[in-house]
Amino acid sequence: MRLFLDTANIDEIRRAAAMGVISGVTTNPTLVAREGVDYRARVLEICDVVDGPISAECISTEADDIVAEARRVAAWHPNVVVKVPLTEPGLAAIRRLSAEGIRINTTLIFSANQALLAALAGAAYVSPFVGRLDDAGEDGMTVVSEAVRIFELFHLPTQVLAASIRSPRHVTQAALAGAHVATLPASVLFQMVRHSLTDAGIARFLADAATYSPV
Ligand code: G3P
Repeated sequence: MRLFLDTANIDEIRRAAAMGVISGVTTNPTLVAREGVDYRARVLEICDVVDGPISAECISTEADDIVAEARRVAAWHPNVVVKVPLTEPGLAAIRRLSAEGIRINTTLIFSANQALLAALAGAAYVSPFVGRLDDAGEDGMTVVSEAVRIFELFHLPTQVLAASIRSPRHVTQAALAGAHVATLPASVLFQMVRHSLTDAGIARFLADAATYSPV
């Protein structure tokens, strides 16, 4: 399983990248708007920090427009993966773009059937939004596990990227469900590192080590 960071904040990305456990980054228009920066410039900055798939989202809604925009976005950097929302025109665009070798992350996935459609269109990744489904009273992780199982059954090469992750527990559940990737807010990644017993253990070891000469 791989972990991506779900943010457009360059300081968070630098801090997470320094830990050596992040393989990629996902962004969306909301995350970029929060930073108040130019989308292309920020994606290029991220590409300098993380050498892996960097998702950048299309905002066009008609198939021809999505194709044209995705080609422009994909040309920003070889590591860019283009995010396309799951719609009828989106599927048509994904089919054309994947035939050109442009990697697509199909976003705003809320059912296993939507994930199947995106995989059949040739998407490299599908992104079920776990937290938003949970917020709506559904079980978001079920979509992740169903998509994983369907792709396994039919040998579909599309990877399941668990998105809209809200807690460390979601990450464990996504891993156990077989998700190929989970994309996390930085806060969740940093929470994963910490455990009160680890902190207490370090404090105890430091106190005990102070009683003898340093090595
Ligand atoms: O980037 C897509 C997804 O991870 C967004 O999550 O927290 O806005 O539901 P959230």
